[in-house]
Amino acid sequence: MEEIKVMTVCGTRPEAIKLAPVVKRLEQEGKIRSILTVTGQHRQLLDQVLELFTLNPDYDLAVMKEEQSLSGLTARILTKLDQILNEEDPDLVLVHGDTTTTFVASLAAFYRQIKVGHVEAGLRTYDKYAPYPEEMNRCLTGVLADLHFAPTAKNRANLVAENIAEEQIFVTGNTVIDALLETVDAEYKFSDQQLRELDFSKQVILFTCHRRESFGRPMEDIFKAIRKVVEQNYQVEVVFPVHPNPQVKELATDILQGVDRIHLVGPLDYQPFVNLMARVDLIVTDSGGIQEEAPSLNKPVLVLRGVTERKEVVETGAIKLIGTSYEQIITRINQVLVDQQQYEQMAQAENPYGDGQASQRIVRKILDLFTN
Ligand code: UD1
Ligand code: UDP
Repeated sequence: MEEIKVMTVCGTRPEAIKLAPVVKRLEQEGKIRSILTVTGQHRQLLDQVLELFTLNPDYDLAVMKEEQSLSGLTARILTKLDQILNEEDPDLVLVHGDTTTTFVASLAAFYRQIKVGHVEAGLRTYDKYAPYPEEMNRCLTGVLADLHFAPTAKNRANLVAENIAEEQIFVTGNTVIDALLETVDAEYKFSDQQLRELDFSKQVILFTCHRRESFGRPMEDIFKAIRKVVEQNYQVEVVFPVHPNPQVKELATDILQGVDRIHLVGPLDYQPFVNLMARVDLIVTDSGGIQEEAPSLNKPVLVLRGVTERKEVVETGAIKLIGTSYEQIITRINQVLVDQQQYEQMAQAENPYGDGQASQRIVRKILDLFTN
């Protein structure tokens, strides 16, 4: 049997984190020739992940621009990736999740009649604009994919309901848990001075916010609510690793810069970030990946969204959706800070995303399918 040529494509921070354990496994398989293509949809955020996990891309499309539009990004990825697919002609293109890179790489592979494997398939909010544009990116990738690696049984059921053939869906757990368990370390020491000097005997909140659907008024309300919570609670410290998107950075500077006990830091590398997650008291975020990781570290998460595609973790009670209204955010954060019983119920809830073996299951399934 000839070797199986698998091209993994990723472009943003979360895809790189969640595909790193898969690429590492692919590289170890003698029967597989692993090719890594990065679109460079993100530059700094992506490069730090590649470095941490010692991933060396074979191709880098370097498409990122300041404040890139979705259409411009789509067009740049599609034309550049097509040339590489033409040269390499892989047996399988592996994509992850719901970004522009994910959808466009799937489309480019389909145009060349190359099979597509979708890692983290089947998550749905059923709301076209939340998260935007990710819900549609994930649905469209699902339509184009040949193999669907679903983290949970619920994700599988969503795909079955969309008439995806059951034999093309594999429940694997989420690869983010593989990456997390490999990276979190009780002995880890922060090199960043602000983090080293944080007083963890206080109530420390880790806050992140970057979603496109919150740009403008909702994000302004969110930032003002965080400022209010800090002003109301002298024991509370907030750490906010600010996403490099100018729409986020400028607003964060306007509303939160210079406020006592709010620490604005740049986007953190994955290693300090997860080790910070492991030490804080509470997480307030609109991130997708953080909703999946935090319960493994027994940290309650308040999610700044009206809907989530991670419904199983709402059901276990580890996260709560609090929306984006100013009043609600303040009320709900204050509740968790004072109500010890609610806090413990959230912190002790189970993580539905698996045991850290998802990447191994994915690679084994690829081997099975392409050698039989
Ligand atoms: C993208 C994904 C989103 C994911 C997020 C993770 C899409 C449509 N969205 O959103 O699903 O949650 O990544 O972070 O694919 N920038 C930099 N340096 C970087 C990265 C970004 O300067 O390393 C700035 C640039 O100005 C860029 C902007 O951020 O134009 C937005 O980046 P983009 O990838 O378009 O969208 P995100 O909001 O990061
Ligand atoms: N993350 C990180 N540094 C940060 C913020 C997040 O390394 O400053 C990690 C986080 O642990 C998770 C992933 O990035 O694994 C989530 O990425 P993000 O929130 O940007 O995107 P989303 O998951 O919402 O698509």
